[in-house]
Amino acid sequence: MLRNPAQDSGNQSGASGRACPARTEPPGTFGQLLRAHRERRGLSLAQFATRVHFNRGHLSKVENGKRTPSVVLAAACDRVLDSGNRFTAIATALEATARPRPGWVHPAQLPSAKRLFTGRQCHLKQLDRWLGSETSLAVPVAVINGPPGVGKTALAVQWAHQAVCDGRFADGQLFVDLEGPEPGRAADPFDILGHLLQAVGVTGEHLPADLHQRAAAFRSYLHGREVLLVLDNAADARQVQHLLPGSPGSAVMVTSRSRLPGLLSRVDAVTLPMAELRRPEAATLLRAMIGDARADADPAAVTVLAERCGHLPLALVLAAENIVSCQHPSADQMAAELKAEEARLDLAEGDVALRHRFDASYRALDAPSARLFRLLGQLPGQVDVAATASTAGVSRDEAVRLLHDLAGAHLIRQQDEHHYLMHDLLRAYAADLSRQLDGDAAGAREEDRAGTVTALVA
Ligand SMILES: Nc1ncnc2c1ncn2[C@@H]1O[C@H](COP(=O)(O)OP(=O)(O)OP(=O)(O)O)[C@@H](O)[C@H]1O
Ligand SMILES: [Mg+2]
Repeated sequence: MLRNPAQDSGNQSGASGRACPARTEPPGTFGQLLRAHRERRGLSLAQFATRVHFNRGHLSKVENGKRTPSVVLAAACDRVLDSGNRFTAIATALEATARPRPGWVHPAQLPSAKRLFTGRQCHLKQLDRWLGSETSLAVPVAVINGPPGVGKTALAVQWAHQAVCDGRFADGQLFVDLEGPEPGRAADPFDILGHLLQAVGVTGEHLPADLHQRAAAFRSYLHGREVLLVLDNAADARQVQHLLPGSPGSAVMVTSRSRLPGLLSRVDAVTLPMAELRRPEAATLLRAMIGDARADADPAAVTVLAERCGHLPLALVLAAENIVSCQHPSADQMAAELKAEEARLDLAEGDVALRHRFDASYRALDAPSARLFRLLGQLPGQVDVAATASTAGVSRDEAVRLLHDLAGAHLIRQQDEHHYLMHDLLRAYAADLSRQLDGDAAGAREEDRAGTVTALVA
């Protein structure tokens, strides 16, 4: 039960500038007080939730004493209930009681959520189950992985904002880019811990000088707090493992193009793989971005355009931006522009380019996997293990190993024991690389056997 500290100290009027007369003040905790004020105003919980812009379920928990009210919520209550500073004062006092340790700076590092975020309802629910307040994991870690541009970061940010709106992670939210996909650029855990510790209030001169001490200090800071940590673009398990909280209360979302082999054996993590949007969701996203007028002018062209973007969010967003900026002012013109597969790879706006995102994943492959990837670009349809082995001139076991590596990098997707699928845009990209680097496939095989063909030049 969350006692009202102002009441405990015998100060019934609290710090309110406009205190209600003592005889009309309902007794009890913040939650009881809130319910009494709300009901006195004749507001249902749903009506009240709409007015304060907080989730109804969270408000119910606050009223029942199961959640601590934040100062932001309390201020909204004061505004809607016209109660002066009453609720804000109580929440401020509660916060001071609950957080006796000085030096904590409340981080709020989430990037803004997308106004036009579309679909992914199952993924959001799954994250609710794993990271929500009812989770069975001690320190919940959800790893969101998938191919370049599929929407991993967008999903993580969307869920994080919803959770904060629902009153979770009241001690703050940390967001850090681990720069994983680009080989050689992955951020060093020592430096990241330095940034994280500074973000929660540790000054430069107090940063420990050793990786393990920094990791321990970060865990100490997080102990007893409710913090959301988003680790975006992780390269590997080694990079992530030092950054995790050690005690319950906080939660972690990791995004990565890799499956992060080895992570599950180190921490209690769950994995959420992502694929492209469903067909209707892809069309909905295009419509939302280009506007109803353009979409209604030619709905069939919107469907064709979504198809030519392979329903991949990054391609859809770039195509839509292209339409809105009037380079190809209609869905029909844009779809016609993307008829040739190579043109799809040139989708770009500003410094965001589809091909560059694919390049980073490709460059991270070792030479035999890179070679197989290029070869797959020349084989239409489903990828069959036996056929791949014979075309690539390798043993079946070697083909299985290489295909497993490509699936681990989300450049292909395993369908069953013997088959894999390749996204149309990635296949077009692989074919394009093969044309540039290999000439014909047989020639490439000979060269590689001689050990001369390596990965794509940077
Ligand atoms: N569900 C969605 N609704 C609307 N826009 C989306 C959605 N998913 C992704 N996007 C947009 O698509 C683009 C690519 O998404 P995002 O950057 O999240 O992909 P990613 O999987 O994190 O890529 P990378 O592997 O390169 O980091 C972004 O502009 C993002 O805002
Ligand atoms: Mg990302």
